[in-house]
Amino acid sequence: MKTATTHSSTKTASPVVKQLAQVLADSYALMANTHDAHWNVEGAGFFSLHQAFQTQYENLFEAIDELAERIRALDAFAPGGLTRFARESGIDEFGGPVAAKDYVAGLVTAHEKTIADLVALRDAAGQTNDLETQDLAIGRIQWHQKTTWMLKSYLK
Ligand SMILES: [Fe+2]
Repeated sequence: MKTATTHSSTKTASPVVKQLAQVLADSYALMANTHDAHWNVEGAGFFSLHQAFQTQYENLFEAIDELAERIRALDAFAPGGLTRFARESGIDEFGGPVAAKDYVAGLVTAHEKTIADLVALRDAAGQTNDLETQDLAIGRIQWHQKTTWMLKSYLK
């Protein structure tokens, strides 16, 4: 889709907006991977994994909207588009069917990457006393940490 005018991107944005955009891309890529796992996981534990992955992608879908709208509330434009999210997330796709434990391990890696970017967001927001963005980041860190614990427990 070509448009005559493009708005300024996050290149000139504040550190908080840049990091919100990073977490948005991470979360979108993680949601896509979680959906992939939900659809294609097989074997022992199918029913519980299929359901757990659904709970996770539903949480991510809501968080994505909250993150994007926080960028808008900070008077910047939110990034969009699958190509851009895939490129900027730095999160690998599965690229085809894998074993259940490999879906879980791949998701753990993506959650941990997202947590690291959320910690940077939390700290950037703290630097500018943006406690509302910091609160959003803390809530997301808690959810990703809890989900990572659950996924890792499956792997033991
Ligand atoms: Fe489904």
